Amino acid sequence: MAKSSNLVCLIILYATALNFIGCYAAAQSSKKLLFVFGDSVFDPGNNQYLNSSMESTGTYFPYGMTMNNKSTGRISDGLLVPDFIALFRNLSVDPPYMQPGADLTKGANFASAGSGVLGESNEVMNLNKQLENFKKVVTLLVEKKGEQEAKNILTSSVYLFSMGGNDYFRYNMQYSNSTKSERVAFMQTVVANLTNGFKEIYALGGRKFAPECWTIRLLAIHKSKSP
Ligand SMILES: *[C@@H]1O[C@H](CO)[C@@H](O)[C@H](O)[C@H]1NC(C)=O
Ligand SMILES: *[C@@H]1O[C@H](CO)[C@@H](O)[C@H](O)[C@H]1NC(C)=O
Ligand SMILES: *[C@@H]1O[C@H](CO)[C@@H](O)[C@H](O)[C@H]1NC(C)=O
Ligand SMILES: *[C@@H]1O[C@H](CO)[C@@H](O)[C@H](O)[C@H]1NC(C)=O
Ligand SMILES: *[C@@H]1O[C@H](CO)[C@@H](O)[C@H](O)[C@H]1NC(C)=O
Repeated sequence: MAKSSNLVCLIILYATALNFIGCYAAAQSSKKLLFVFGDSVFDPGNNQYLNSSMESTGTYFPYGMTMNNKSTGRISDGLLVPDFIALFRNLSVDPPYMQPGADLTKGANFASAGSGVLGESNEVMNLNKQLENFKKVVTLLVEKKGEQEAKNILTSSVYLFSMGGNDYFRYNMQYSNSTKSERVAFMQTVVANLTNGFKEIYALGGRKFAPECWTIRLLAIHKSKSP
C-alpha cells in the first residue's frame, strides 16, 4: 500500500516536472537545462570520484546490466528517473558533476548516494556540498554565456530534488528512543535547511523546482505538524 502510493506520487510529480519543461519550451527561447540534487535515488555515479572509504556501489555487475553491463555508478540496472525525464524531453542526460572532463554547460547532476540534507562529510556530498558545486557551474555558465544569458538559462532550467530520507534513517538509528517532540524538532531542522537550499537556488534565478516524494512529504508533514 505504502509502496503503491509512493509510485503514484512519483508519477504525478514527474509528470508535473515534464509539463514544466514542456510549457517553458514553448514560452522561452533560452536553453533549458536540468540540474539534479539528491541521494542514491538520483546519483548517476558521482561517488566513485570521491576519495571516500565507502564502497561505490553501482560500479559493477549487476548494476547497469540492461545497458550492456555498462555499470555507471547508478544504483540501478540502467538509467534513473532524472535520465528518463531528460530523454523524454530531448534534453541532454546530465553527466555526474564529478566526472572528469564532463561538459557541465548542458546541465549537471550533483546527487550523491548516501547523502542527506544535514551535515558535512568527506564520504558523500550532502546538500551544502551539492549547492557549492552548483554555484561553480553557475560561474562556468556566466563565463561561457555571459551574465544575462546565464541568468535566463538558470530561470528556464528545472531543479530536481530527492533528499531527506537518509537524514531520517540516520536519526532513527541513532536516537531510536527520541520523543515525539524531539522528532518534530529534528524534522523542522531538516526542512529549514532544505528550504534554505531552495532559496539559494532561487536567489540565483531558479524558479522551477521539482522535489521528489521524500522531499514533498517532508514539507507536507512539516506543515501539518507546525501550523
Ligand atoms: C582524491 O585524491 C587525489 C590524490 O590525493 C587528488 O588528486 C584528488 O583531487 C582527490 N579528489 C577529490 C574529489 O577530492
Ligand atoms: C553481463 O555480465 C554477466 C556477469 O559477468 C554475464 O553473465 C552477462 O552475460 C553479461 N551480459 C552482457 C550483455 O554482456
Ligand atoms: C526529440 O527529438 C526527436 C528527433 O530529433 C524528434 O523526432 C522528437 O519530436 C523530439 N521530441 C520532443 C518532445 O521534442
Ligand atoms: C541548518 O540550518 C540552520 C538554521 O538555519 C543553520 O544554522 C545550519 O548551519 C544549517 N546546517 C546545515 C548543515 O545546513
Ligand atoms: C531505549 O530505551 C530502553 C528502555 O528505557 C532501553 O532499554 C534502550 O537501551 C534504549 N535504547 C537506546 C538506543 O537508547
